[in-house]
Amino acid sequence: MQKKLKMAVIGFGQRGYCFAEMIKKHPRAELTAICEKSADRAECFARELDITDIPSFDSVEELIAKGDFEAAVITLPDWLHHDCAIACCRAGRHIMLEKPMAPTAEECRDIIRSVQGNKCQLQIGFVLRHHPVFRKVIEITRSGGLGQVLNITSTEHIGVMHGASYMRRWHRKSANSGGFILAKCSHDIDIISAVANSPAVKVASFGSTDFFTPDKQKYQYCSLCPDENCRFRFKGEMVRMSETEKAAPSAQAKPFDLCVYNDDKDVVDHQVALIDFANGVKATFTLNLFAAVPKRTICVAGTEAILYADTADEFITIHNSLTGETQKIDCKSENASGHGGSDEVFLSDFIDSIIEDLPPKIDFKAGLSSTVIGNAIEKARLTGSVVEIPPEDYRW
Ligand SMILES: NC(=O)c1ccc[n+]([C@@H]2O[C@H](COP(=O)([O-])OP(=O)(O)OC[C@H]3O[C@@H](n4cnc5c(N)ncnc54)[C@H](O)[C@@H]3O)[C@@H](O)[C@H]2O)c1
Repeated sequence: MQKKLKMAVIGFGQRGYCFAEMIKKHPRAELTAICEKSADRAECFARELDITDIPSFDSVEELIAKGDFEAAVITLPDWLHHDCAIACCRAGRHIMLEKPMAPTAEECRDIIRSVQGNKCQLQIGFVLRHHPVFRKVIEITRSGGLGQVLNITSTEHIGVMHGASYMRRWHRKSANSGGFILAKCSHDIDIISAVANSPAVKVASFGSTDFFTPDKQKYQYCSLCPDENCRFRFKGEMVRMSETEKAAPSAQAKPFDLCVYNDDKDVVDHQVALIDFANGVKATFTLNLFAAVPKRTICVAGTEAILYADTADEFITIHNSLTGETQKIDCKSENASGHGGSDEVFLSDFIDSIIEDLPPKIDFKAGLSSTVIGNAIEKARLTGSVVEIPPEDYRW
């Protein structure tokens, strides 16, 4: 019989739930442990996924001491990635660590040293690398399909209700993640870097909060607010909650009931960044959290052709300036779930890399690089200056 990899999910929240569901169905894996500090969530989500027979632990220490697993999917909030990743490596477990690898570059370097010292596999959660649109964009640009790449314009337009959800969750505080660009857009920084195929050397950035502004807050919690017509009145959208969380009688007991205009946050709701790469590629990235239609777009200009791609319509268009020809590539995925079906492919890659003892496809260098650039962008935004990234920042 084919070997099944014994896997644990650490952090059974929004993302951990998705991974537990996928692992449960995966032919080469077996979910053997859950680690979640909230007993209520652990029980409720286990019931929903019909995995109540799987051992559940309320701390990483207990999981490592008593759990039976070879690899862990770490889906804890960003500020907990470092300690958990290192504890797993020290115990000889392979890890899939969600993006961003960690809020600071120093934490990423620590993790890398631990991975290497303990001979573990580490894959970083940049699932967008497997998205049908971005996979094709990287393939075309790397194979010289546009000539020499010189210029990249990338955007993430986050749907307004999704954007609102970040204003009431842990993402609203920069200290929890290293800033919103790193928390949410480390994916995009990774894709831009993969297309540029060179280290970033300089960044500039501007960003602020001009939509979810505290002056619009009427009450601290939606459940205390009389404004029935507020479009952000919390009704349970965009977050998975346990039955107890849903039924909580008081406002404060509902973790997501916070008014989106609260002043208990310091992250931006729109931002732009300019990135200069060592090989001369120049990139811009634009983010907003109040879009009517969520989508990511990328435009790559090369010496021979220009490419436009869009995750909403899942097409790539290439105009060739030498031949005058236009090519349209359909990237529609059959599986519309989990980032255009990329979550499943991503998980399979991780499982295969361990069973077959192959290097992971999205390794720690991508994780470190994205955090280094994300930290520099946040510093540039906060100081209003151009921030240089020395080559040693990418070393460990
Ligand atoms: N790759 C992607 O596209 C993608 C998408 C969403 C989230 N993420 C990443 O996944 C991670 C989790 O995000 P989320 O939205 O699921 O957060 P979440 O808050 O919904 O889930 C985190 C869970 O961890 C639990 N937890 C906290 N501290 C713990 C501890 N010490 N021990 C055990 N459990 C603990 C919390 O109770 C919660 O249930 C983040 O790093 C985020 O950036 C990645």
